[in-house]
Amino acid sequence: MSVNPPTLGQLDAADRRFGWHPFTQMREYHDNPRLHLVRGEGCWLIDGEGQRYLDGNASVWTNVHGHNDADLNRALREQLDKVAHVTLLGLNHPIATELAEDLAGLTKGVLSRCFFSDNGSNAVEVALKLSFQYWQLVGHDAKRGVISMEGAYHGDTFGTMSVGERSEFHRRFNPWLFAGQTFPAPIHSECAGKIARTGASASLAALKTLLERDAATTACLILEPRVQGAAGMVQQPEGFVKAIADLCRQYGVHLILDEVFTGFGRVGALTVSELEGVVPDFLCLAKGLAAGYLPLAATVTSEKIYEVFLGKFSEGKTFFHGHTFSGNPLGCAVARESLRKLKLMLASGQVADRAALLGREMETTFAGHAQLRTFRQLGLTGAVEFKPADVDRWPTDTRAGYRVALAARRHGLVIRPLGDSILFVPPISIQADEIKHLVRAVRLAMDEVLPSLKTD
Ligand SMILES: Cc1ncc(COP(=O)(O)O)c(C=O)c1O
Repeated sequence: MSVNPPTLGQLDAADRRFGWHPFTQMREYHDNPRLHLVRGEGCWLIDGEGQRYLDGNASVWTNVHGHNDADLNRALREQLDKVAHVTLLGLNHPIATELAEDLAGLTKGVLSRCFFSDNGSNAVEVALKLSFQYWQLVGHDAKRGVISMEGAYHGDTFGTMSVGERSEFHRRFNPWLFAGQTFPAPIHSECAGKIARTGASASLAALKTLLERDAATTACLILEPRVQGAAGMVQQPEGFVKAIADLCRQYGVHLILDEVFTGFGRVGALTVSELEGVVPDFLCLAKGLAAGYLPLAATVTSEKIYEVFLGKFSEGKTFFHGHTFSGNPLGCAVARESLRKLKLMLASGQVADRAALLGREMETTFAGHAQLRTFRQLGLTGAVEFKPADVDRWPTDTRAGYRVALAARRHGLVIRPLGDSILFVPPISIQADEIKHLVRAVRLAMDEVLPSLKTD
């Protein structure tokens, strides 16, 4: 007996009845047109009526080679024919070992130990807990604190919220979060010119003061290197990450680089760590690791740190942390194939060319626009910040970014807003004509929406 698939109307009604979407005000969601995406082809998503939308958000910053990629599909199917899941808790499967070895290659073997988990927040939780436990195991119990940078976002679990900016997203949970220390970010608008160094050096000087005072009670510093995605693609100048790493070494504080967003091609290299020649103590990977196909994450660290956790069971050195789907074989299989393809794509110069094109297109399309506060681009990341023509900002419920994102759908683009801005995060494999489409669709949507928004 064949069962007919639900009609679009039935699907929409069921979504209204049963769904609760992440990071979404559900009343607003239902008051506006919904989009039910049923298929993907390359950088495009296709809805139930056959309309095509460029995926300008890379399905929340994960997509590397486009949707429905033949090579990734084959790798996934081959693994599926073997086994879909085996736990890594006290057991092993070959593809996890092979991927762990691949990931050690990201730092030329310096970070040779790979601890798998299943999402970016967990990759960060693991790094934090490893750092805390390490200092206890080597007899420095007082080293418990965490330093993070202003504007940081490391996830939505309690540990990651604690080390992130107490923004609108997380402020409500303040009473349950542990305290940390922050230092100022170098200001992104200063990045291009001479003043950049002033911004960065003020930031580094503040960090140095903090470390001088508190290194003895600080376990680690956590940083989203080069670009803080969730803060609005806020950039750090070249060399900044290296300077942070040097300070951490000097003061004996672990450095955690959270490359959940920046890893796997986003900044035109496999990682910022590689780009800037910095090896942290912990490198957190997720999102693009499994190319946007499956939830997979990894925290990689050094042999030196790993060895501290070895001992008799009774010594209590075991790292008691693990998730049911940590290192899932399907995810590992896709990740290996994705990494193989990505290395070739980066070596061909394609990603660098596309990033340069994105920069040029944004410059010609947005420079001098009366309703733009600013815009910026680095690698395959970008942001445009809107403002009203006459006053400083719109009332919060005007939802300028959200309105522009909704209008962009009519121009064949799905893209995510952040407050009064739009974030550009296309799949790494995006083609030149698709970059032009991405930028043009945002401009068309802006011009359609912004002039009519009320400022009172
Ligand atoms: C830098 C960074 N770290 C951690 C996370 C959390 O990852 P996940 O959503 O997979 O938990 C994100 C998500 O956007 C991120 O951008």
